[in-house]
Amino acid sequence: MLDLSALPPDFIWGAATAAYQIEGAVAEDGRKPSIWDTFSRIPGAVDNGDTGDVACDHYHRWPEDIGLMRRLNLDAYRFSVAWPRIFPDGVGQLNQAGLDFYDRLVDGLLAEGIRPFATMYHWDLPQALQDAGGWPNRATAEAFADYAAVVAARLGDRVADWNTVNEPLCVSWIGHLEGRMAPGERNLARAVHTSHHVLLGHGLVNQAIRASAKLAPSVGIVFNLSPIEPGSDRPEDVAAATRADGHVNRWWLDPVFGRGYPADMIECYGVEPPVRDGDLDLIGAPTEFLGINYYFRQIVVDDPLGAVPFVKQIPVPGSIETAMPWEVYAKGLEDILVSVAKTYGPRSIIVTENGSAWDDTVEPTGEIQDKERTDYLEQHLDAVRNAVLRGAPVDGYFAWSLLDNFEWAYGYDKRFGLVHVDYETQERTIKASGHRYADLVTTHKRSRESA
Ligand code: FCB
Repeated sequence: MLDLSALPPDFIWGAATAAYQIEGAVAEDGRKPSIWDTFSRIPGAVDNGDTGDVACDHYHRWPEDIGLMRRLNLDAYRFSVAWPRIFPDGVGQLNQAGLDFYDRLVDGLLAEGIRPFATMYHWDLPQALQDAGGWPNRATAEAFADYAAVVAARLGDRVADWNTVNEPLCVSWIGHLEGRMAPGERNLARAVHTSHHVLLGHGLVNQAIRASAKLAPSVGIVFNLSPIEPGSDRPEDVAAATRADGHVNRWWLDPVFGRGYPADMIECYGVEPPVRDGDLDLIGAPTEFLGINYYFRQIVVDDPLGAVPFVKQIPVPGSIETAMPWEVYAKGLEDILVSVAKTYGPRSIIVTENGSAWDDTVEPTGEIQDKERTDYLEQHLDAVRNAVLRGAPVDGYFAWSLLDNFEWAYGYDKRFGLVHVDYETQERTIKASGHRYADLVTTHKRSRESA
């Protein structure tokens, strides 16, 4: 029996989404294209040629979606604000209609007692800024802060919880080095420059929120982290694991916790991040929490002829894989929470995303009996509980995702939702995993009330 009573009494139970993955309405009320609108139209870039044009139509169906959150008994909802709705050209003319949408959403959440966690950047850079040079340009970080200040000024009388950037690794390494996500570049120097400007953007936005929001803000950046293991004890593979850890974890955590960029990785990349005076202080300025997204561990071996950082991930024989295909390894969540807590000492950690994709089937009764997703959820919550018992200051968990949605380069085929979406009819159905989550949340809330 899963016993979550060791979690803190005020533990935050939530679910997460991101604007481009659910909203649709890409040309409504003044929104202009983002890099994902452009990227998803490149033949072959996204499976089945899917785009976010309609997605879950959340832009129109948000009241129904808040109703689902109620039924799941959530304390909190993590969503992202679409920059191209607020500043359709990235900078310059403000679009009030875009802000109005998030105003309505926030009011709707608060009316149902659901705490809004807003993410300022979940990958939908206005295309106009990409055309002007994108994240490899320092000016993009400055534009990001100007946009975030406007959002914090408008919503910051009701929103206290802010995520600056979601997964700089994906923006930098997957978007600019591997080319598998927007904007689809493959250029190491531009990727390293991107990484610095995204972190600088975090620092500037951290400052901007504090200057603009009325409520005392709680701010954090969100990293997708993986525990790394060498595939053997050969010295080459052990060194490869150190490089992979640098690429995936330390490159982001070190500067945000005031340690600057890891020297071994600058050497590995052969590219200096374009740091100016004061940047590292901004990036390392205190925040209230660290957001961690966890999906999988990595077991790596040396790959001297491969791409930077010269490592190859190897499969784990006999492991269970989700539809992504990512290995199911709940212990990795416990390990990463404990090791980050020990190494960096964040004041608070929130698991801002965790979840799994499976090939769901809708029964003739209309039910979705997603046992694998339910098992995954339970195992990972057990891992969070274990991490708390081992001293990690974990204060919340957000399931990825509230809804099945546009899974980036995989399109609509990969379903992560606690709630099933029929894309033909836009009908929503809570899956068995969603019902189980609601039960776990209710049980934990009861235990805290009776404590
Ligand atoms: C994360 C993203 C999120 C979602 C999950 C599956 O990397 O932050 O938007 O796509 O993966």
